[in-house]
Amino acid sequence: MSSIIIFVSFCSWSLAGVCGAEVKSVSVTEGDSVTLESALTEMKSNDLIMWRFGNNLLAKINRKDNKRETFNGPNGSFTDRLKLDSQTSSLTIKNSRISDSGLYNITTSSSNTLLNTFNLTVYAHLPAPVISNSSSVQYCSVVCSVVNVSAVSLSWYKGNSVLSSISVSDLSISLSLPLEIDCLDDSYSCVVKNPISNQTQHLDIQVCQFCEDCICCCGFAEAVIRLALAAVVGVATVAVLVYDVTSRRSDQRNRKQTSPSDSE
Ligand SMILES: *[C@@H]1O[C@H](CO)[C@@H](O)[C@H](O)[C@H]1NC(C)=O
Ligand SMILES: *[C@@H]1O[C@H](CO)[C@@H](O)[C@H](O)[C@H]1NC(C)=O
Ligand SMILES: *[C@@H]1O[C@H](CO)[C@@H](O)[C@H](O)[C@H]1NC(C)=O
Ligand SMILES: *[C@@H]1O[C@H](CO)[C@@H](O)[C@H](O)[C@H]1NC(C)=O
Ligand SMILES: *[C@@H]1O[C@H](CO)[C@@H](O)[C@H](O)[C@H]1NC(C)=O
Ligand SMILES: *[C@@H]1O[C@H](CO)[C@@H](O)[C@H](O)[C@H]1NC(C)=O
Repeated sequence: MSSIIIFVSFCSWSLAGVCGAEVKSVSVTEGDSVTLESALTEMKSNDLIMWRFGNNLLAKINRKDNKRETFNGPNGSFTDRLKLDSQTSSLTIKNSRISDSGLYNITTSSSNTLLNTFNLTVYAHLPAPVISNSSSVQYCSVVCSVVNVSAVSLSWYKGNSVLSSISVSDLSISLSLPLEIDCLDDSYSCVVKNPISNQTQHLDIQVCQFCEDCICCCGFAEAVIRLALAAVVGVATVAVLVYDVTSRRSDQRNRKQTSPSDSE
């Protein structure tokens, strides 16, 4: 007898949300459909199953007559967007909106048991980042920007390594992240990311007119050729200088020779 009482009190304790404290996190991108699983294993013939969003009743199924009903939710925001599976009692939210984010739960009336609690997060679509140059800067510098975002990070990558990164939490703001390029090649990209998706933009070499000076040679052979070219140019410059100096000297000598005042 006492064990039954303990069991009952344990159950009502769980109704207070202590036992059902496990909240399942569900994430989706705005516009996509999302299904919250009922986790119903067996259904009693007289069960009344209810889905709630916060304190708002969204849907109910009466197992007695299998009658299903969905409601429009707060301010009618769920109108025509809810689907209740007749077999599983799972709730599908179509064309999800950011304002759908929050806590959902499903209960059954027979035992007044909380079956499941969900924390739904609907993320905004990520805009593609834009890479642009800054005309005021005379060297290899570009900037990546993204407008009107929240809960994202913006990063520069070279290949798979992160070069720099900034992030924003809740506010909807614009972000920009500059990059000074050491060695221009096509391995740079800018990535905007939230916890469930990302958008990537590769650096187009055309965007950097002044970047000729920062094109690094990557292959060994190319390096040797460049070095050799530089040496040839260097030697040619010295040769011109030497020629110039010699010819000036001989000019002076000629002048000296022809100058009458200087003769001894
Ligand atoms: C379900 O959620 C609503 C709103 O948060 C809450 O009032 C209700 O107590 C919850 N039900 C259970 C059984 O925890
Ligand atoms: C319903 O709309 C009103 C006015 O637009 C707003 O103040 C209120 O917060 C909304 N309620 C919910 C639950 O979204
Ligand atoms: C729900 O998820 C959001 C985003 O991950 C989080 O910030 C929030 O604290 C969660 N809420 C609860 C009650 O778990
Ligand atoms: C910024 O984003 C919000 C929601 O994501 C949207 O309602 C608003 O129109 C956007 N503003 C601009 C200027 O794009
Ligand atoms: C972007 O997302 C794709 C798949 O969604 C993933 O393969 C890739 O690693 C992600 N990129 C970054 C930089 O997180
Ligand atoms: C800036 O980028 C554009 C292409 O997006 C290019 O036509 C222009 O020459 C670049 N300007 C500089 C200063 O690099």
